[in-house]
Amino acid sequence: MKNLYITVVCLPLLYLVLFTDIPLLGQSNSRRVESSTDPRAVDWVKLNPAFKGASFVRDKEVCMTCHQETSEKYQKTTHGRLFGFNPRGNLEATDCESCHGPRGKHVEEPDSTLALSVEQYSVVCMQCHQDGNRMYWQTSLHKTADVGCVSCHTVMEKRSHTALLSNENQLTVCSTCHTDVKVKMSRTTHHPIQEGKLDCSFCHNVHGAPGRAMLAKGSTNETCYSCHQEKRGPFLWEHSPAREDCLTCHEPHGSNNRNLLVTQSASLCVSCHQYGGHINQYRYNRVSTPYGNGCVNCHATVHGSSHPSGAKFTR
Ligand code: HEC
Ligand code: HEC
Ligand code: HEC
Ligand code: HEC
Ligand code: HEC
Ligand code: HEC
Ligand code: HEC
Ligand code: HEC
Ligand code: HEC
Ligand code: HEC
Repeated sequence: MKNLYITVVCLPLLYLVLFTDIPLLGQSNSRRVESSTDPRAVDWVKLNPAFKGASFVRDKEVCMTCHQETSEKYQKTTHGRLFGFNPRGNLEATDCESCHGPRGKHVEEPDSTLALSVEQYSVVCMQCHQDGNRMYWQTSLHKTADVGCVSCHTVMEKRSHTALLSNENQLTVCSTCHTDVKVKMSRTTHHPIQEGKLDCSFCHNVHGAPGRAMLAKGSTNETCYSCHQEKRGPFLWEHSPAREDCLTCHEPHGSNNRNLLVTQSASLCVSCHQYGGHINQYRYNRVSTPYGNGCVNCHATVHGSSHPSGAKFTR
């Protein structure tokens, strides 16, 4: 019975494995590019045809014979520690080559034919990072403007406290391209970003978000409410512009008027309330009167009031 099993089942199988090219055990005998068994793995040849015929080395010691210094810095990063010492699955265990592709050929003939562009690197990163925060990456204003993961992240060495940024903090990373925002951030009133209390990413999801300016919470007001809860209300007396859009009166990045206002507060109010609401009390309306500089001296609750007699936002 046992002998019969060997001749009828095992020998033909052995023949198939040894002498044909049918990938019975998930691997072919031909010298194709080995694909990682992880379904997330990119098709390297499709990404860059120069990978054709290359196999994985799967040993960073080999890379280190020529890239010693680079590898030592890399090993101190989140990826370096994780992939080197505690890999979860095949893709992570591929270490260097999970981002640089099969390098067998490169080890024999080191050149730069396998180098990847900014855009190609984004495809490589998305093998593992196609999760929550990057759900809208494909349609994000950054991706569509040819900004890639490596425009903001440097993964070969640790330069920032968190998130492997290309520079020490977000302000410096973003400022290289958004110089206008940086200029606004140094106006007399600004959100305390350069003081280190806040980051761009508290208001923006730079990996992409539906809605304007990639705002983190979908709409402007929802984004603002996430920290300024008291402005959400509900109020007994709503001031409709505050309910609709905080940016009617505020400049989020910085302003030379107090309280991040888009203009001086009196002219701000008068832009909608032509007579200042005091048709018979002309003196209230003049910017030059003692009251002038601040409608808010009397109208102290311009964001809305819950006081029974707060209909005119005076309390
Ligand atoms: C998480 C992805 C990733 C991993 C893992 C990774 N690299 Fe890199 N590597 C990059 C990216 C992206 C660049 C492009 C330059 C940059 O943005 O810093 C790069 C650049 C390089 C460069 C050329 C520039 C330089 O600094 O000399 C070398 C060499 C290199 N990597 C070797 C390695 C080696 C060796 C390993 C493993 C010990 C490794 N990399 C692991 C992503 C990775
Ligand atoms: C025999 C020496 C040698 C070995 C081994 C070697 N490299 Fe390189 N590597 C080089 C040289 C030289 C260059 C620069 C080529 C150039 O700029 O023309 C380079 C460039 C690179 C670059 C930047 C350009 C590109 O192709 O993206 C990366 C990334 C890289 N090597 C990764 C690796 C990895 C990963 C390994 C291990 C699997 C490895 N190298 C093994 C010599 C080597
Ligand atoms: C415009 C700059 C920018 C680009 C482009 C960018 N990132 Fe980020 N990324 C950041 C900043 C800033 C943070 C830190 C703030 C945060 O946690 O959202 C971050 C955080 C992360 C984190 C850690 C927190 C998290 O969201 O899981 C990962 C992972 C990440 N980025 C991956 C990527 C990948 C992958 C790409 C390309 C598809 C990419 N990033 C493109 C700026 C960028
Ligand atoms: C083989 C899978 C894999 C690839 C490829 C990969 N990453 Fe990661 N990355 C991880 C894992 C795992 C972590 C640890 C955090 C986690 O569990 O998400 C991580 C963490 C990060 C973090 C957060 C680091 C920190 O210290 O806060 C950033 C940023 C990041 N990756 C960016 C990138 C970029 C940019 C690329 C492409 C150049 C890339 N990753 C490629 C698996 C990968
Ligand atoms: C307090 C929340 C907040 C913070 C913090 C913040 N932004 Fe914004 N940002 C906004 C809002 C709201 C808009 C939408 C403006 C509009 O639609 O007119 C915006 C718009 C933008 C725009 C689009 C064009 C423009 O200038 O209006 C860019 C670029 C931008 N932000 C970059 C940044 C950068 C870079 C940082 C960090 C240095 C940052 N933002 C920090 C709220 C914020
Ligand atoms: C490599 C250059 C580059 C870097 C670095 C960069 N950006 Fe951008 N960003 C762009 C480009 C290009 C656009 C496309 C729209 C434009 O031209 O303003 C854009 C768009 C944006 C927008 C949407 C603007 C709009 O018109 O609605 C926001 C918000 C933004 N970036 C925030 C950030 C933040 C925050 C950082 C840092 C974490 C950052 N960017 C880093 C180049 C960059
Ligand atoms: C991540 C939290 C956060 C978000 C989101 C946020 N803010 Fe702020 N805001 C702050 C902090 C912190 C301060 C500084 C408070 C202080 O210094 O006492 C501040 C201050 C302000 C000030 C007063 C500035 C001054 O100098 O007097 C205004 C006005 C303001 N925010 C408006 C907004 C608007 C409008 C939005 C939405 C676009 C917004 N904030 C979103 C945290 C936030
Ligand atoms: C109609 C114009 C207007 C709109 C719209 C508006 N604000 Fe204001 N905001 C002001 C004025 C004026 C001040 C200065 C108030 C003062 O000096 O008492 C101010 C001050 C602030 C301050 C700092 C002082 C304080 O009250 O904490 C914050 C924070 C603030 N606004 C957040 C918001 C948020 C969030 C929104 C959107 C929900 C918003 N504002 C919409 C006019 C406006
Ligand atoms: C973008 C236009 C706009 C701006 C700017 C604006 N308001 Fe208003 N305000 C309105 C609208 C619309 C109403 C509701 C009018 C109504 O119900 O008849 C209103 C109502 C009021 C009321 C109650 C009026 C009533 O008849 O019950 C007062 C008081 C008021 N605003 C004061 C201010 C002050 C003070 C400022 C400056 C900080 C200001 N508003 C800025 C549009 C604006
Ligand atoms: C000295 C205090 C004071 C100042 C300064 C002041 N207001 Fe008033 N305002 C009031 C009072 C009190 C009322 C309520 C009048 C009433 O109920 O008849 C009022 C009513 C209003 C109304 C509602 C009018 C209506 O028809 O019911 C508007 C709009 C208004 N003010 C806007 C402004 C604007 C804009 C400024 C700045 C240019 C301003 N106020 C400056 C005290 C002031």
